[in-house]
Amino acid sequence: MQSRSLFTRSASFRPENLGQNALQLIGNLCFALFVIGVLAFTIIAATYQPDDPLLHPSTKLTSFLVSTSNATFHSDDSASHTGDDFLTPNSTSDAASAITLIDISAQTNGSVVEFSGAGDEAADSGPSCSDGPIDCSDTEIFHTMMRAAIEMFRDVHFYRFGKPAQGGDDGKSCDMAWRFRPKDAKRVGFYKDYRRFEIARSTNCSYSVVSIGDYHTGVNARKKRKTSKGSEFKAKHAADSLPGMVVPVVGEIVNDSLPVVESEGKFSSGKYLIYVGGGERCQSMNHYLWSFLCAVGEAQYLNRTLVMDLSICLNSMYSSSGQHEEGKDFRFYFDFEHLRDSASVLDQSQFWEDWNKWQKKDKLKLYLVEDFKITPMKLAEVNDALIMRKFGAVEPDNYWYRVCEGETESVIQRPWHLLWKSRRLLEIVSGIASRMNWDYDAVHVVRGEKAKNTELWPNLATDTSPDALITTLQDKIDDGRHLYIATNEPDTSFFDPLKDKYKTHFLDDYKDLWDENSEWYLETKKLNNGVDVEFDGYMRIEVDTEVFLRGKKQIETFYDLTSDCKDGINTCRTTA
Ligand SMILES: *[C@@H]1O[C@H](CO)[C@@H](O)[C@H](O)[C@H]1NC(C)=O
Ligand SMILES: *[C@@H]1O[C@H](CO)[C@@H](O)[C@H](O)[C@H]1NC(C)=O
Ligand SMILES: *[C@@H]1O[C@H](CO)[C@@H](O)[C@H](O)[C@H]1NC(C)=O
Ligand SMILES: *[C@@H]1O[C@H](CO)[C@@H](O)[C@H](O)[C@H]1NC(C)=O
Ligand SMILES: *[C@@H]1O[C@H](CO)[C@@H](O)[C@H](O)[C@H]1NC(C)=O
Ligand SMILES: *[C@@H]1O[C@H](CO)[C@@H](O)[C@H](O)[C@H]1NC(C)=O
Repeated sequence: MQSRSLFTRSASFRPENLGQNALQLIGNLCFALFVIGVLAFTIIAATYQPDDPLLHPSTKLTSFLVSTSNATFHSDDSASHTGDDFLTPNSTSDAASAITLIDISAQTNGSVVEFSGAGDEAADSGPSCSDGPIDCSDTEIFHTMMRAAIEMFRDVHFYRFGKPAQGGDDGKSCDMAWRFRPKDAKRVGFYKDYRRFEIARSTNCSYSVVSIGDYHTGVNARKKRKTSKGSEFKAKHAADSLPGMVVPVVGEIVNDSLPVVESEGKFSSGKYLIYVGGGERCQSMNHYLWSFLCAVGEAQYLNRTLVMDLSICLNSMYSSSGQHEEGKDFRFYFDFEHLRDSASVLDQSQFWEDWNKWQKKDKLKLYLVEDFKITPMKLAEVNDALIMRKFGAVEPDNYWYRVCEGETESVIQRPWHLLWKSRRLLEIVSGIASRMNWDYDAVHVVRGEKAKNTELWPNLATDTSPDALITTLQDKIDDGRHLYIATNEPDTSFFDPLKDKYKTHFLDDYKDLWDENSEWYLETKKLNNGVDVEFDGYMRIEVDTEVFLRGKKQIETFYDLTSDCKDGINTCRTTA
C-alpha cells in the first residue's frame, strides 16, 4: 500500500530544520497544530447500491480513524484525496461482464449481449462488392472492427461499442467509439476512446482491419449520436447502466454549466446556506477540501442548498509564479457536474442576483451566524430563507471546518462521495495511459526540496539517484518494460541512465495533451470566459499521481526506494 493518507502524524517539526522552500509550510503549522486532537470521520458512499457488482461490499463503508493525537493535514505538495479514490472495483464480476469475442459471434443468438440498432438494418442483403467507399454502417464491418479492437488492446476490457461512423474522406476508414476499463483496474469508473480504423475489402467481399489509429483519432465517433438507443453493442451488465449507480465516465463530454433557478417561486421557497469569509482562502488544497466538505455536509444536514464560491485561490506551492493565484475555478480541479447533479448547490453570483431581485418582495429573511461554536444542530430549527455563517479574520477560529468539530463530528459526515476529480484532468491521465497501452509499470521518485534537506531526509538523495534506482528496480521491474516516472525532479535527463534498461516516460512527454491544440486547453479556456488556463502545479501533481496509480506495478519512494520517512526523520508510521 502506498501511503497517500489524508492525515499524517505530524513531524517533530523544528523550524530551524525546515528548508527554504518549506517556509511556506510554517503558515500551515499553526493550522496543523490546531487540528491536533481526535479526528474521526466516516465515508459513506450513499449513492451506491448494494447490488453494485463493481464494488466490494466492504468498501461501501470506509472508515478512517485517526485515533490519537498528532493527527494533522498534509501540508506538503501531494495530491488531495477525493471520493472517487475510495471506490474499488470487484475485478471478478468486472471481468465477467466485459464484452468478449464469443459475445460478438454469439450476437445473433441474442443470449449474451444486448444488441439492436445496426442489426435491425435487414437491408444488409449480402455484401455488394462495389468499388465505392466503405459503408461503415454495415454490420459485418462493425463486427470486424470490434473483433480487431478486442484482439489488439489486450490490457483493457470493453463494455460498449458505439456504432461506427464514416471515417476519413478517402472512404477507406471508419471511426468507432467504445467504453472500457483497464484490466485489473484499481478504481471504479470507465473511460472512453474513439479511434479510426483503416478497412480493407478483399475481392470476395470480406472486410478486414488494416490498422487502428492512435488514441482519440476517431473524431467522427466521438459525440453520442442522437440515434435511437441501441445503436451500440453493450455488455449486458455494463455497470453504468445499473439503476441508482453512478460511476465516473472519463472521456464523455463534460457539462458542468452552472445551475440555474428556474423561477421566482422556486427560488423564494428554497432554503439556503452560505459561508462567507474565512481563513481558507489560498491555503493548501487539502485544507480547502476539508473545509468545503464540512460546508457541504452542514447544508445536507440542514436540507439546504449550499451557495458556493466557485472561484478558488491557488496556493503558491502549486503556482509557477510562486505567488498565491486568485481566480481559479473549482471546475479546473473537481467534477462540478457530479457535485451539481448529486447535491443541491448554487453559484453565489447567481444566488445574490436572484436574492436581490426577490428578497424584499417575498420577504426572505437572513439568519446571521458569526460564531462557529453554534452547531448545525442548533440551526435545524431556523426557518429563515438564508443562513449565513460569517467567519472573521482571526486564525484559526475562522476556519470553516471548525463548524464540524466537537459534538458535530458525530452528526455530520463529510460527503466525500460528492467530490470527484475533474474528468478533464482524468482524460489527460487516460490519454497518457492509453499511449502506453495501459501496460506499464510506474515509479514515484520524490526529490526536490526533500532531497536537498539531508537533516530530515538523510538518504533520500542517494536512494533516488539513477544508479541506486537501477539497482533497486532490477528485482522489481523487468527489463524493457514501459516505466512511467512520476517525479518532482524538474530535469528529467537526470534519469537518462535508466533508458538502457527501461522505456522511460515522464509527464512532460505528453505536453500535447494540455498544450494550445489540446481538447483540455480549448475546454478550460471556454470555461474561463475565453482566457486561457495554465496547466498549473496542482494539476501536474494530480495527473502525475493518477498516471502512477494506474501502473501495473507501483513503486513508491518512501518504503520502496528509501527507508527515510515521508515527513522527515522519525515520522514513519508504525502501523499501516
Ligand atoms: C464480486 O462479485 C461477484 C459477483 O457479483 C461476487 O460473487 C463476489 O463475492 C464479489 N467479490 C467480492 C470480493 O466482493
Ligand atoms: C505525539 O506527540 C507527542 C508530543 O508532541 C509525542 O510524545 C508522541 O510520541 C507523538 N506520538 C506519535 C505517535 O508520534
Ligand atoms: C448459439 O447458441 C448455441 C447454443 O447456445 C451454440 O451452439 C451456437 O454455436 C451459437 N451460435 C453462434 C452463432 O454463436
Ligand atoms: C476472402 O478472402 C480472404 C483473403 O483475401 C480470406 O482470408 C477469407 O477467408 C475469404 N473469405 C471467404 C468467405 O472466402
Ligand atoms: C447541461 O446541463 C444542464 C443542467 O443539467 C442543462 O440544463 C443543459 O441543457 C445542459 N447543456 C447541454 C449543452 O447539454
Ligand atoms: C431533512 O430532511 C429529512 C428528510 O426529509 C428529515 O428527516 C430531517 O429531519 C430534515 N432535517 C432537518 C434539519 O430539517
